[in-house]
Amino acid sequence: MTSQADYMPPLGTDSAFTSRDSSNGRAADAMVETYKKYYTSGLYDSRYPDVSPFALERVLKDLGDCRRILDFGCGSGRYLMRMLEHTDAELIGFDVCAVALEKLRQRLENHPQRHRVRLVCGDFNECPDYDGAVSMFGVLSHIPTRATRLATLRGIRSRLQPNGRFIASVPNGMRRYHKENLLRRIGLGPSHFEGTPLETNDIAYSRVTDDGARLDLYYHVYFSGTFRRDLTDAGFSVQKLEAESLVTETTISHSLRWAVLDDAARRVIPAMAGYGLYAVSAR
Ligand SMILES: C[S@@+](CC[C@H](N)C(=O)[O-])C[C@H]1O[C@@H](n2cnc3c(N)ncnc32)[C@H](O)[C@@H]1O
Repeated sequence: MTSQADYMPPLGTDSAFTSRDSSNGRAADAMVETYKKYYTSGLYDSRYPDVSPFALERVLKDLGDCRRILDFGCGSGRYLMRMLEHTDAELIGFDVCAVALEKLRQRLENHPQRHRVRLVCGDFNECPDYDGAVSMFGVLSHIPTRATRLATLRGIRSRLQPNGRFIASVPNGMRRYHKENLLRRIGLGPSHFEGTPLETNDIAYSRVTDDGARLDLYYHVYFSGTFRRDLTDAGFSVQKLEAESLVTETTISHSLRWAVLDDAARRVIPAMAGYGLYAVSAR
């Protein structure tokens, strides 16, 4: 690895950000636009204000003793800020949404450990290698087309050091988006998202924010088997695949009591019963 000084420009300078590279299609661009509205409206941060201490503890335990961690799809930094507090690792926050990264940059502005963080917007080539990586809460599900998701996973794997771990969580199709997926399967739902044909277990739907902004979302709905298959096809060795939680992320994000109960429950339920799926993979 290079030394910290080699690769970490100070936060707040233009060099900490690269503008988004050429798109991988209109659908991917549309997701960037959606997340721009999602974060600008404040809806994302009010729905998911923080990670539960139990979710964080599990991720840190599964990562082990990493020196440099990539947070792929870090958003406004729910996990990254906590990893900054609870580890000594260098952190790379990667996202395609400049608004999310700007929010994160502001959160870091007066943080005494901000020199340990580098933010990268859109161009994955800007990321250095790492010995741990996370991609939490559905980032992979927002990447249109299976080919692009696999290419993304292979890209994440390519910079992961041989002994490194990759932790990812995605929504579980056994619990989420039944209606949308069924309608689509029987030909009554949308067949395209922004010009990109939907593939098996892909859905497109809209949500309206409190201030009236329409969020057009693409989701690939994963199941345990398809999640494992994608990770394996990208070259990862899946070490465990389990329920991320039993109750919704919004509930856990807002209530410590629920987070305590959920942490006990998620340990005993099968992966297929989880609100999300949580996988730990080795390179
Ligand atoms: C549901 S949010 C999760 C954010 C964060 N990981 C968390 O737990 O709060 C999904 C994030 O994925 C980002 N995203 C969408 N497509 C992406 C892509 N192709 N590459 C990287 N990030 C992406 C979005 O901008 C958004 O910040």
